[in-house]
Amino acid sequence: MAFKIGLLGLGTVGTGTADILFNPDGRHPLLQNITISQVGVKSLEKKRNIDLPSEILTTDLEAIVTNPEIDIVVELIGGLEPARSLILKAIAHGKHVVTANKAVIARYGGEIFAAANEAKVYVLSEAAVGGGIPIVEPLKQSLGANRLENIIGIVNGTTNYILTEMTEKGSDFGQVLKVAQDLGYAEADPTADVEGYDAADKIAILASLAFGCLVKREDVYCEGITKITSSDINYAEKLGFVIKLLAIAHKVQSTTETQLQLRVHPTFVPTSHPLANVNGVNNAILVEGSPLGQVMFYGPGAGSGPTASAVVADIMNIVGVLNTDKTGDNLDSLLSCSPQGQGQI
Ligand code: HSE
Repeated sequence: MAFKIGLLGLGTVGTGTADILFNPDGRHPLLQNITISQVGVKSLEKKRNIDLPSEILTTDLEAIVTNPEIDIVVELIGGLEPARSLILKAIAHGKHVVTANKAVIARYGGEIFAAANEAKVYVLSEAAVGGGIPIVEPLKQSLGANRLENIIGIVNGTTNYILTEMTEKGSDFGQVLKVAQDLGYAEADPTADVEGYDAADKIAILASLAFGCLVKREDVYCEGITKITSSDINYAEKLGFVIKLLAIAHKVQSTTETQLQLRVHPTFVPTSHPLANVNGVNNAILVEGSPLGQVMFYGPGAGSGPTASAVVADIMNIVGVLNTDKTGDNLDSLLSCSPQGQGQI
């Protein structure tokens, strides 16, 4: 069975995704049955790093999400609007959706997953957290046997790259940020990276999945790295620490109630700690629970190829299930793994 993709956005991640889907040879056989039918872009004139047939490009994004021939809409335009409305419209038109949009999922995940359940379509968002690292699906499935207690992560590649360069080379904050932007790590507005907003979106998503409740994005305490100076870094080094921007979700259980602590802030991390050695654009997410103990997920946390790898994995997950489940019987159990709130903590 062939599956048709409508791709929204041809920026850093969109280009990486198109590159994989147009070059399936030597990759998983499922990819041979997946074609990009339409690509929604802001401008048809813009010079691009990828050559695509011009007839599949359009500036009419609404036409893609309502196109009866499209099976899966892949939203990679980022930002809140029109991304949220396009996702909801795609769902209303019976499309499965793959998105890398952490800002939308962190704020409107409840609304989006409820709509997806109602319409019996998938919404998958592995690329929203950790770039190329599989962490969303493991939290939904492979770690499901555990009572999870802690998530501690370096979940923003741009700030980790900046802090690493400042620590290792004494580089200037502004210059390194510019390099991170040129390398395609930073958000369109890098304020979201350096002020910690992007990491706060990501920990809200991870906490919702890990603790089975709908975490409100505004409940995450958030402090970025803009006030970190080279003398902070030097003091940390003298004391045996490195400074990392950590995103933390910690379950606090008393005899009468359960609460979540949710925070993003620069942290002194002992140099012997595994997170201290996560450098450059890499991300790492340490998950702790019972009976598992600790596991750490590590890898490239931003950039075109790694993030596209996670996007295409989601597309393949949907195609794989639809290929084997023509009846749709499996849909209910898979959709129930969505972070849509199964009671309050
Ligand atoms: N700007 C994000 C980061 C991209 O630097 O981590 C990946 O979500």
